Amino acid sequence: METMMTCARRFFFSLGSSSSSLLLCLLLSLLSANNGIVSAATAPLKFGINYGQIADNLPHPTQVSDLLRSLNVNRVKLYDADPAVLTAFAGTGVEFIVSNGDLLNMSDAGNARAWVAQNVQPFLPDTRITCVIMGNEVLSGTDTAAMQSLLPAMQAVHQALVDLGLDGQVKVSTSQSVNVLAGSYPPSAGAFREDLVEYVRPLLDFHAKVGSPFLINAYPFFAYKASPESVSLPYVLFEPNPGARDPGTNLTYDNMLYAQIDAVYAAMEAMGHTDVAVRISETGWPSDGDADEVGATVQNAAMYNGNLMKRVAAGQGTPLRPDVPVDVLVFALFNENMKSGPASERNYGLFYPNGTSVYDLGFDRTSFGPSPATSEFSSSSKPTMSFLAEVVVLLAEYILHSSCDCLLTDSSV
Ligand SMILES: *[C@@H]1O[C@H](CO)[C@@H](O)[C@H](O)[C@H]1NC(C)=O
Ligand SMILES: *[C@@H]1O[C@H](CO)[C@@H](O)[C@H](O)[C@H]1NC(C)=O
Ligand SMILES: *[C@@H]1O[C@H](CO)[C@@H](O)[C@H](O)[C@H]1NC(C)=O
Repeated sequence: METMMTCARRFFFSLGSSSSSLLLCLLLSLLSANNGIVSAATAPLKFGINYGQIADNLPHPTQVSDLLRSLNVNRVKLYDADPAVLTAFAGTGVEFIVSNGDLLNMSDAGNARAWVAQNVQPFLPDTRITCVIMGNEVLSGTDTAAMQSLLPAMQAVHQALVDLGLDGQVKVSTSQSVNVLAGSYPPSAGAFREDLVEYVRPLLDFHAKVGSPFLINAYPFFAYKASPESVSLPYVLFEPNPGARDPGTNLTYDNMLYAQIDAVYAAMEAMGHTDVAVRISETGWPSDGDADEVGATVQNAAMYNGNLMKRVAAGQGTPLRPDVPVDVLVFALFNENMKSGPASERNYGLFYPNGTSVYDLGFDRTSFGPSPATSEFSSSSKPTMSFLAEVVVLLAEYILHSSCDCLLTDSSV
C-alpha cells in the first residue's frame, strides 16, 4: 500500500506539465461534455470498496459485514486473503476479490496450488471469491525480481484454479498504478512505459486468454495536490466544467479519471489488444491531510466519491467506451491509523473505525449495532437526505432491481 501511494504520487507529480496543457485544453474547449451515459436498466452495477486493514482499531469482520450490508455494498477487495474476513462474509452474497503478493513463491506450481487449496477453495461457494489479484503496483515499483515473477505467478495460480475446477468462478488479475503509462494526456496518446513493454505485452496476452480485466489504481487527487493552480478542481471532482477535448479523437472529457481509463485503453490498443477490459481497482479522495496537502477536505472527498458513485450507479461508460460501464473499487472502507506517510494516507476512509461515517451519509450511525432495516434507505423522496445518501439510495434501489452478476468476470469490451 505504501509503495502504491508513493508510486501514485511520483506519477502525478511527473504529470505537472501535462496538467498545464490539460488546463489549456479546458480553457480552449467550448464543446460541452460528452457524458456517454448508458441506461442503468441494462448496465450491471460496478461499485465496490477496498477493505484495507493497516490499523489497530478496526471492528471485527462480522461487524463490518453488518455495516456493508446496511450500505448495500456488494463487492469487497482485500489486500490479503484474511480467513477471518472470508469466514465472516459467508452466506452474505458479497463478492470478494482477494490478493496475494507472494510472487516469487507463487511462480512455483506446487506452492500456487497449495495456496489456492488453503486460501480460496475452502471458502467457496459460501463466500463468493471471484478474483485473485497478484501483487499491487509491482510494475511501477523497483523490485525487478517481483516484476519478473508477476506473470509466472499469475499463470501458476490460474493453472491451480484450472486444476481444482475453480477457474470458471475465480479469475486471476493484478493491479497496476496508472504510473505504468508513459503519459495519459491526451487519452488517445496513452502508451505504456517503454521499459515496461516487455512485461506488459505477455501480461495483456494472459488477460485476453483467461478473460480477466486489467486493473488500475488511479488517484486524480495526487494530480490536484501536486499543482492545484493548474489542475481544475471541478474536472477532478466530477463537478460541472467545460471539459477537455482530445484532439486525437475529438472526444470531450469532463473528468480526469475517465481520461486515465481511456488512456489505458489507448495504450492497450497500441499493443494490439481491444479484447481486455479496464477496471479501477482503487480510487478515492482523502477527507483530511497535512497543511500542505491542498484539496484533502471532507467536502472534496464527499464530492469525489459521491459524484463517482452516482455515475457508476447510472452505468456510465467513458467517452471511448460508452457502452462499458465504469467499474470501480473505492479506496477505502475505513481510515487506517497505522499507515505511514502524510496525514492524507490515514484519511481515505468512508468510515471511522467506530462505524461513524466520515462524511454525511444521511443517516445516524453512531456505532456498530444491529444492521438497520433496508427500508431506511429505500425511499429517495426524503427531503432531508444528503446528496451522498441519495447516491446510496440509488445504489440500493439499483441492486434491488437488478441481478448483480460477477462483475470482474464480465469482460465485455
Ligand atoms: C510459499 O507458499 C506456500 C503455499 O501457500 C506456503 O505454505 C509457504 O509457507 C510459502 N513459502 C514462503 C517462503 O513464504
Ligand atoms: C476533429 O474535428 C475537426 C473539426 O471538425 C476535424 O477537422 C478533425 O478531422 C477531427 N478529428 C478526428 C480525429 O475526428
Ligand atoms: C467515532 O470516531 C470519530 C473520529 O474519531 C469521532 O469523531 C466520533 O465522535 C466517534 N463516534 C462515536 C459514536 O464514538
